Amino acid sequence: KAIYPTTIIIFGATGDLAKRKLFPAFYNLYIDGRMPEQFNIVALGRAENTDENFRNYIEENLEHFSRKKGTPRDWSGFRSHITYFQHQLDQESSYQALYQRLEDLDQEYGKRGNRLFYLSIGPNFIATISNHIKNTSLASDAEKDRIIIEKPFGHNKQSAIELNSLLAQTFEEEQIYRIDHYLGKETVQNILAFRFGNSIFEPLWKHKYIESVQITVAEEVGVETRGAFYEQTGALMDMVQNHLLQILCMVAMEPPASLESGEIRDRKVDVLKCIRRISPDQVDHYAVRGQYGKGMINGVESKGYRQEEGIAEDSNTETFAAVKFYLDNERWQNVPFYVRTGKKMKEKHSYITIQFKSLPHSTFSDSPHLLSANRLIINIQPMMDIRLQFMTKKPGLSLVLEPVEMIFDYFACQDDTPEAYETLLLDALLGDLTLFMRSDQVEEAWDVVKTIQESWGSNKDTSFPNYEAGSWGPKASEELVKRQGHKWV
Ligand code: BG6
Repeated sequence: KAIYPTTIIIFGATGDLAKRKLFPAFYNLYIDGRMPEQFNIVALGRAENTDENFRNYIEENLEHFSRKKGTPRDWSGFRSHITYFQHQLDQESSYQALYQRLEDLDQEYGKRGNRLFYLSIGPNFIATISNHIKNTSLASDAEKDRIIIEKPFGHNKQSAIELNSLLAQTFEEEQIYRIDHYLGKETVQNILAFRFGNSIFEPLWKHKYIESVQITVAEEVGVETRGAFYEQTGALMDMVQNHLLQILCMVAMEPPASLESGEIRDRKVDVLKCIRRISPDQVDHYAVRGQYGKGMINGVESKGYRQEEGIAEDSNTETFAAVKFYLDNERWQNVPFYVRTGKKMKEKHSYITIQFKSLPHSTFSDSPHLLSANRLIINIQPMMDIRLQFMTKKPGLSLVLEPVEMIFDYFACQDDTPEAYETLLLDALLGDLTLFMRSDQVEEAWDVVKTIQESWGSNKDTSFPNYEAGSWGPKASEELVKRQGHKWV
C-alpha cells in the first residue's frame, strides 16, 4: 500500500490511454485499499470542463474498462479525489497556475506531498512539458517527485539519447519511470520467479539443453484508430524494440544477486549488450517484415492494412516482424532466439516457447520418431499458464510413448489478477523502479534493432501485402526458422 500523500498529475487525461487504462487502474488500486489515504488526481486537458463533467465521463468509462465493478460507495469515495484542470501544454502561465493548484493541495495534506507526473501524450510534447516543469519548479523535490513516460521512447538510438539528456536537465534518473506495460503483466513478472525460485529449471537453462527460444506476440486487432501514428512506427518500433526485447531479457538474463532494482536492470542491460548486432547486409537473412492484406478473422471479413483509415494506399509500413537473434555469451551460444509479432493474426496469443534439445541417445531407439523433445510453454495472454511437455508411456499393454502436458494455470488459483497498469502504477507510487526501463536499457534496445530499422526504412522495395489477415504472417517467417530445421510452435 502506498502511504505518503500524493498528487497525480495526468497530462493527456482526456485521451484514450487515460480512459482505458490509467483511471481504471487507479480505481482498482483504490478499491483494493492500495492508494494512500490522501491523494489527488489532477486531470489535465486543453478544453474547458468542470470537475463534475469530467468525473461523470470517467464513471461511464469505468463501466467498460474497469476490471472490478466496485460499489456505489467505492465510486463516490474515488470521484472526490479527481479534479479537472484546464491546461495548455505550451503556455508557461498554465504551468504557473498548476503550481498554485499543487501548492494548495499540499496545504490540505499539511505537508509537501509526493508528485507523480504522468505523461500520457504524444512523444513530441515530452520536451515542452519537461522544460516547463523545470522552469516553473513544479518538480522541485528530487526525493518526492516522479515522472512516468509512455513509449515510444524516441524513434531511434540517437533520439532516445537526446530525450534522456533532455529529461536529465529536470529529473534525476531515479525519478524517471519509463513504462513498458508488458513488464507489468503477471505472467511476464513470473518468469523471474519461475527461473530463479526453483532448483529444477535453472540448471537446464542454457545452450547445452536448449535448442531454441521463441517469443510470439500475436494480435488479432489491426491498427484501429491509430493509423497516423502507426504509419510512422510499424511493428519493429512499436513492439520488437520494447515489449519483445524486454521479454527476451527476462528469459535470457543471468541470475541477479538480489531483487534490488538496479541489479535487475543491470542484468537486463547485459543481455541487450550480448545480443549479436545484425550487419546491414545480413538483415534479410535475420529479419522478416510483413503487412496484412484482406482476409478472414474468426469468420468475419477483414480489411487490408492499406485500406484502413489514415493509411497510405501504397504504404510500406510493416505490421508484422520476425527476427532471429543470437546472444554472444557463454550461456546462450548458438541458441537462436526467434521473436515475432504481428497485427491481424490468426488469434490473439502471446507466449514463449523454450524448446529443449532432443535426447543425445534414446533407449527407445526403435521408435525415435515417436519421441518429441521436451518443451516449456509460458502463455502470457490471453491464456495465462505454464506448460511443460514431456513423454510418458501411454497406458495400455504395449510400450508406446506419448507426449503429455503438466500445466500450471493462473486462473485455477487466482481469479483476481491485477492488470499490468495497476502493478506499474502502484510501483511508481511506492518508488520501485524495477519494472521500468532505465535510460541505458532503452538506448541499448534501439541499438539492437538499428540496422533492421535502417534497412527497412531505406529499402522500399517490398511486395506488400504479403500475408492475409487471419493468418500467422508471411511465408518468409516460416522460412526464417526452417533454415535451422525449426518451426514456429
Ligand atoms: C502497445 C502497442 O504498446 O501494445 C500496440 O503500441 C499494441 O500497438 C499493444 O496493440 C499490445 O498490448 P496488449 O497488452 O494488448 O498485448
